Amino acid sequence: MHLTLDGVEVSYGKKKVLNQISMAMAHREVVALVGHNGAGKTTLLKAILGLIESEKGQIKFEGDDITHLPPHLRVGYGIVYCPQGGEVFKRLTVVENLEVAGHRERDSKKVRENVEKVLSLFPALKNRCTLRGGVLSGGERQMLSLGMSLMLSPKLFLIDEPSGGLSPLYVDKVFESIRRINEQFQTTILLVEQNVNHALGICQKVYVLRNGHIVYQGNKNEVKNVSSEFMGF
Ligand SMILES: Nc1ncnc2c1ncn2[C@@H]1O[C@H](COP(=O)(O)OP(=O)(O)O)[C@@H](O)[C@H]1O
Ligand SMILES: [Mg+2]
Repeated sequence: MHLTLDGVEVSYGKKKVLNQISMAMAHREVVALVGHNGAGKTTLLKAILGLIESEKGQIKFEGDDITHLPPHLRVGYGIVYCPQGGEVFKRLTVVENLEVAGHRERDSKKVRENVEKVLSLFPALKNRCTLRGGVLSGGERQMLSLGMSLMLSPKLFLIDEPSGGLSPLYVDKVFESIRRINEQFQTTILLVEQNVNHALGICQKVYVLRNGHIVYQGNKNEVKNVSSEFMGF
């Protein structure tokens, strides 16, 4: 397995937010993590990246125990997180945003190549590459934010609610670009979504989180037959 979580638990102070979380993702799989607001989805992504400590359980990536590694070493493994909200540097151009995001790569030729690779994935951005982040639409900012994460060459890409606040047209474009990231970059993707139908369009497997517990897991075809009561939000 590419990523496994076994009995992971996380608290904020005395409040337990994740209970006994066990998951398994295969290489190149797209997995959706769905659940209501406050269920613990963002916390789970942060725990996988190491931004928040797991007080119990184990996280393994490509067979190595990474449970207690700091985030920068997990990024070194290829675990990359694209936070909710599509934040970009407003005063930098599209290309500058990508270059800044790619600063871990020391070879400037490789940085330029990566910028080209990312722009070819997002034709809408390519046309706007000299514009500043602050003038982009919400959908374009979300694509740029995904592109900035891609500059870190993820093997496992943790994407937090990429469709949040976008118009339906942009939701489709963003999901199409995530599908292409998975195809062209051979990236395993853990996608957080509140809208199950959006997620089902591109994922192979679904986990449902409710109040910090995984209450359902199944492959895409099974989910379609599960009652909405069981999906629980
Ligand atoms: N930094 C924090 N400090 C304390 N509680 C938090 C913090 N971040 C999130 N929480 C709480 O943890 C729970 C899960 O939050 P979160 O992971 O953001 O849920 P989701 O992403 O599913 O909406 C919520 O009850 C939220 O209020
Ligand atoms: Mg969240």
